[in-house]
Amino acid sequence: MKWAGGPSGRLRLLDQSLLPARVRWLTCRHPREVFSAIRMLRVRGAPAIGVAAGYAMVLAARRCSTLARLGREGAVLAGARPTAVNLSWAVKRMLALRTLDAAALLREARAIHAEDADACRRIGLAGLPLLRGAVLTHCNAGSLATGGIGTALAAVYEALRRGRAPRVFSCETRPLFQGARLTAWELSRAGADVTLLVDAAAAGLLASGTIGSVWVGADRIASNGDTANKVGTYAHALAARANGVPFYVAAPRSTFDPSIRTGREIRIEQRGAEEVLAPLGRRAAPRGVPAWNPAFDITPARLITAFVTEAGVLRPPFGPAIRRILNTGSR
Ligand code: MRU
Repeated sequence: MKWAGGPSGRLRLLDQSLLPARVRWLTCRHPREVFSAIRMLRVRGAPAIGVAAGYAMVLAARRCSTLARLGREGAVLAGARPTAVNLSWAVKRMLALRTLDAAALLREARAIHAEDADACRRIGLAGLPLLRGAVLTHCNAGSLATGGIGTALAAVYEALRRGRAPRVFSCETRPLFQGARLTAWELSRAGADVTLLVDAAAAGLLASGTIGSVWVGADRIASNGDTANKVGTYAHALAARANGVPFYVAAPRSTFDPSIRTGREIRIEQRGAEEVLAPLGRRAAPRGVPAWNPAFDITPARLITAFVTEAGVLRPPFGPAIRRILNTGSR
């Protein structure tokens, strides 16, 4: 993701919905174009949609004559996807400037982007000592999903930079195949050793003793550590626990939501049935059969070995550890 030009510039987004078949950049000049790019997963991954929302607010301010209007634009944008807290967090941060000055807003959007890149780098450094043996990951929590080198994949990138090549098993991640289309794409381009598996094969792989640790990102983390992430994450956490494999959640502080106590309060985005019934645009089920399609699930804190954040590694009990990192430094 790139901002092109100064305060009157535009947002350029790599259209992730077309990968890996096509590498196409979208140009957004209107906040509603960013809204629809977020909604249609052209840009996705919690930190990346937070960064995109920051830039969208610069585009919005150019069209708003009052702060109240900008507030309404922000509310629309924040509603594009309900589960990833980084989206509403970034909108609130932009509105907190209480200005329509595009130059000031662009400085803040760039700061959100740079801070996210820095958080990814620190997550990679904090995670590196925990990376032993092969990694299992789900969905895409790499560079495509953030403003930097990713969260769950940051330690893998850090290892690669040091000449190590950890083996990564990427679950294909139904129904939208972020693991197959995006994680496999970015890791193979980076020269990593990546192998795909269907989501349902993960438990057997964990039982086989091949995997040293499981790494996932997060869309929203409650005060007690309950974590919303891509649907299927919970099953991997259960299988990891049953087989004694450490389960790590890597996320920046902007993904923690201190306003909610437990995962029960997290709203899970429900997406259209067609994603399940016709995966990749090809009908797989008979017409007339309904589908249940939650985009995320909640992994209870008790199944998480540690959170890997830019402020360090958090171990249970998570409540006090989360409060400590959110009370130190800016969020
Ligand atoms: O629906 P998506 O593709 O936006 O879901 C993304 C995930 O679940 C990621 O794991 C999460 O946002 C963390 S990305 C660093």
